[in-house]
Amino acid sequence: MGNYINILAIESSCDETSAAVIQNGKVLSNIIATQKVHERYGGVVPELASRAHMQHIVPVVDAALIDSGLKKNELIAVAFTQAPGLIGSLMVGACFAKSMAQALKLPLIAVHHMQAHVLAHFIDEKPPFPFICLTVSGGHTQIILCRDFLNMTVIGETIDDAAGEAFDKVAKMLGLPYPGGPLVDKYARQGDPLKFKFPISEMKEYNFSFSGIKTSILYFLQAQKKLNPNFIDDNLADICASAQYAIVSMLMKKLVKASIDYNIQHVGIAGGVSANSGLRNAISEAGKVNGWKVYIPKFEYCTDNAAMIGIAGYYKYLAGEFTDLTISPAPRASW
Ligand code: KG4
Ligand code: ZN
Repeated sequence: MGNYINILAIESSCDETSAAVIQNGKVLSNIIATQKVHERYGGVVPELASRAHMQHIVPVVDAALIDSGLKKNELIAVAFTQAPGLIGSLMVGACFAKSMAQALKLPLIAVHHMQAHVLAHFIDEKPPFPFICLTVSGGHTQIILCRDFLNMTVIGETIDDAAGEAFDKVAKMLGLPYPGGPLVDKYARQGDPLKFKFPISEMKEYNFSFSGIKTSILYFLQAQKKLNPNFIDDNLADICASAQYAIVSMLMKKLVKASIDYNIQHVGIAGGVSANSGLRNAISEAGKVNGWKVYIPKFEYCTDNAAMIGIAGYYKYLAGEFTDLTISPAPRASW
């Protein structure tokens, strides 16, 4: 055991049950159980998500421990996602983490899910500070100024839908199954991004709005379907490419502005939507134009995973930021 900081981390904020073991900031294991049950409903059903977490949590933690090659008594802390997320889902992870910490007499570390998405960057290649991160997921869209591992400020965010939500809603209008973001990305690769023009919203400072594009695509599709009932099938790739182009343009515009205003050339993306190929291309292009060093976490650390919770837990452990058993999960906590 010696000087090894072995942390068990648990993530259960939405529809992924995940457990990881982190040793001195390196990932020993990272198990993710995705919940298929939501597909047929076109979105995450909170009650079904918490039940699925309850079924998955024990085998997932077990697998993470086995994969890590460590025994329970070699752990020195338990970290878990405390906020934000679906309350029922968070509760499963929080209760499990608390019980485990209490049974093994280990300190408990509460982690903010969005901070963990940013800290996913520090799993392998470590960007220097200050560093700007665009965090884009199914629930959040934020530009974060990072001065240190635990010193982060949200300088801009969406005032309505998250970018991932916008992708998923576009997919739903096109009749694609949930979660539709990756499918929009897939079809967009064969399409023309300039075929259809969707509005680019103009928000103040570094903020975003994605509700306008959703409505405009809805009206556009309704009008086109009157002229050609097969409009979606006939134009699927071009619609996906054009919608993706508009969403990515909005994200990039604010990210470029933030980098110029704050004079920071270390720029990254994090969260589920950072898996989007259009966004990945756009950020590397913007990097060339603006002289950025661009950081994109490995694919498995972009979408929800416990490794990022473990890394956040590691830096909190080093900073002595522990919590006690009275802590409750919080669906909307800011930071
Ligand atoms: O970070 P994440 O796994 O979970 C949340 O914390 O929300 O992000 C999930 C979101 C979903 O909206 C999903 O459609 C979107 O990320 N997403 C994508 C892609 N992969 C995942 N959106 C567009 N293109 C992708 N390739
Ligand atoms: Zn997430």
